[in-house]
Amino acid sequence: MVNKGKMVEAEVLSMIDKDDLMKRESEAIFQTYSRQPIVITRGSGTKVWDSDGKEYLDFVAGIAVNNVGHCHPAVVEAIKRQAETLIHTSNLYYTENQVLLAEELKRLTGMQRAFFCNSGAESVEAALKLARRATGKAGIVAAERCFHGRTLGALGATYKAVYREPFRPLNEARFVPYNNSEALKNAVTKETGAVILEPVQGEAGVYVADAEYMRAARQICDDSGALLILDEVQTGFGRTGKWFGMEHSGVKPDIVTLAKALAGGLPMGAMLASGISAEAFRRGDHGSTFAGSPLVSAAALASIDVIKSENLVSISEDLGAYMKSQLAKLHPREIRGLGLMIGMDLDADCGQVVSRAREMGVLINSTGEHTLRFIPPLVVTREQIERVVDVIAESL
Ligand SMILES: Cc1ncc(COP(=O)(O)O)c(C=O)c1O
Repeated sequence: MVNKGKMVEAEVLSMIDKDDLMKRESEAIFQTYSRQPIVITRGSGTKVWDSDGKEYLDFVAGIAVNNVGHCHPAVVEAIKRQAETLIHTSNLYYTENQVLLAEELKRLTGMQRAFFCNSGAESVEAALKLARRATGKAGIVAAERCFHGRTLGALGATYKAVYREPFRPLNEARFVPYNNSEALKNAVTKETGAVILEPVQGEAGVYVADAEYMRAARQICDDSGALLILDEVQTGFGRTGKWFGMEHSGVKPDIVTLAKALAGGLPMGAMLASGISAEAFRRGDHGSTFAGSPLVSAAALASIDVIKSENLVSISEDLGAYMKSQLAKLHPREIRGLGLMIGMDLDADCGQVVSRAREMGVLINSTGEHTLRFIPPLVVTREQIERVVDVIAESL
């Protein structure tokens, strides 16, 4: 029998000249990304391979996208089956997968209605638009260090001034310190349409919201009439050891945003709402050509099934605690996180640690100069975690 994996690898290896590809990329593609100097050609479970055939343990997981691992057979099978039946039609028509997925997301989040889109930033756009529609107010309050995306609306609610400044004027949020209820209370006024928060700030370096702060945020919104948007783009689908980050505090938002791990690696976002906001959009208020296509919806349904059937939520909780305890042995400045969403502050230069780890066959990334972030596929094993901790120790 022909080993298809080996064949694909051999074909890819013979075709790609890494240096040539990197040069062509620099000439053909806007230089908006700082890329690591490897060409990734294949992935399976927790591993990826580069164009030289080198194997890596992937603790970046497409930035918290590949929760069920790379190319999970159940997701691949669902995509193949759907691709042979119907890839795309228009939202001018009904499709079954989209409805099944909305019903599943309603069950999982406790929300009442879903709007589908294609990315995290789009789910935030949809949330901000919905909040404006529901309240008639443009004011947004967000947290310092937050990241909500780079489209013009989401960018206005993203903290880093270097991201925002070149693109002003924007509808900019008022930014207040995270985990500070008093500051939030003082910032929310009668003009505030929405407060937007991440249950765990991922891009900032994995800062976890106190449950008390989240409950205060709920109360402040209730008192002022502002809507509470929880951005679960990065924290969703088992990443934090619960299905969603909001479960750690028990706070129910008015609007929740999802993307990243939602469709097992295919691009998909969703915005869900309950209460008055669940009724606020009218026909034509929002839309997207590709949103909720039969293909991505099939991938999302399969991926959610895998998370359930392989108990990935509790694995994330258990192995996350284990990984934190292993990392603590390296005596870092600080370790933060929930489940398999972990940040570790170092005195060392994180960029160098990332490069050395990559040379030793481990992919991690740094958020900021002094924080390493670990967001592996939730199908990771204890042994793989031990190997990564060993590699970090050596890199240091
Ligand atoms: C919390 C959060 N919201 C929104 C986004 C934007 O998502 P996307 O890159 O899919 O537009 C991100 C991306 O990292 C995120 O972490």
